[in-house]
Amino acid sequence: MKTVSTIQEVREIVKKWRQENCSIGFVPTMGYLHEGHESLMKAAKANHDKVVVSIFVNPMQFGKNEDLDTYPRDMEHDSAVCEAIGVDVIFHPSPSEMYGENFYTYVDMDYLTEGLCGKSRPVMFRGVCTVVSKLFNIVQPDKAYFGQKDAQQLAVITRMVKDLNFDLEIVGCPIVREEDGLAKSSRNSYLNADERKAALVLHHALTIAQNLIESGETNALLIKEKMIQEIKKEPLARIDYVEIVDWENIKAIEQIHKSALIALAVFIGKTRLIDNFIHIIK
Ligand code: PAF
Repeated sequence: MKTVSTIQEVREIVKKWRQENCSIGFVPTMGYLHEGHESLMKAAKANHDKVVVSIFVNPMQFGKNEDLDTYPRDMEHDSAVCEAIGVDVIFHPSPSEMYGENFYTYVDMDYLTEGLCGKSRPVMFRGVCTVVSKLFNIVQPDKAYFGQKDAQQLAVITRMVKDLNFDLEIVGCPIVREEDGLAKSSRNSYLNADERKAALVLHHALTIAQNLIESGETNALLIKEKMIQEIKKEPLARIDYVEIVDWENIKAIEQIHKSALIALAVFIGKTRLIDNFIHIIK
């Protein structure tokens, strides 16, 4: 496994692989890798000759009062994880390598980014779309792997690839959870013991929604209300949003008659956690 920090190095390696007719799987990450990331890397490893993982805490997707400076980082651990899975290249650029001195070009998206996390974190999707576009242009993979935990991000990137004709396929992979149901996230490392227990309220609220839907309930407002009631029982929790949206266009719905995304963002203490499930109607 090689770890490289320049765009030039990645380009040279990828050019050589292409001459050898290798297929390339790509997993973009911000590091502090956990089993969620591992599942993406394993999927890439199973489907491609070569796997590239990027580790870059992208300043452009963090708002002013967000956790850019404190975002957890551990390159030694991340390298060991990638090595064990058989990743071929880690791309670990600096912010100056990615954005240079003067950077004037952004990729922005309307509509799909207006609600959910896009509403609470207004700069996030511009930063995500810009950095992911750059990474796609640098790595030029056949497929790129994203977790469904960031369901809106998955929808946005899938749309961006279609709208901008990127020549690659986006693969969404299921959420990986702790044994008690908490979705794996690098930000779980911020939680103290009491907060870790309180964080289960996200999973509990989603389970309530899932049970209601499975028993035939289609009234999205009623389901949301039950989820909110459950979260409000937890004193350490503060709701950012609880939403039920059409999975195709990420717009709020009142009745669940099509595939729906049931998503929530909740602050546990100072830590903002997200989770969701997608109810597919075929
Ligand atoms: O999901 C993430 O970790 C980031 O948003 C991504 C896709 C790596 C872009 O910085």
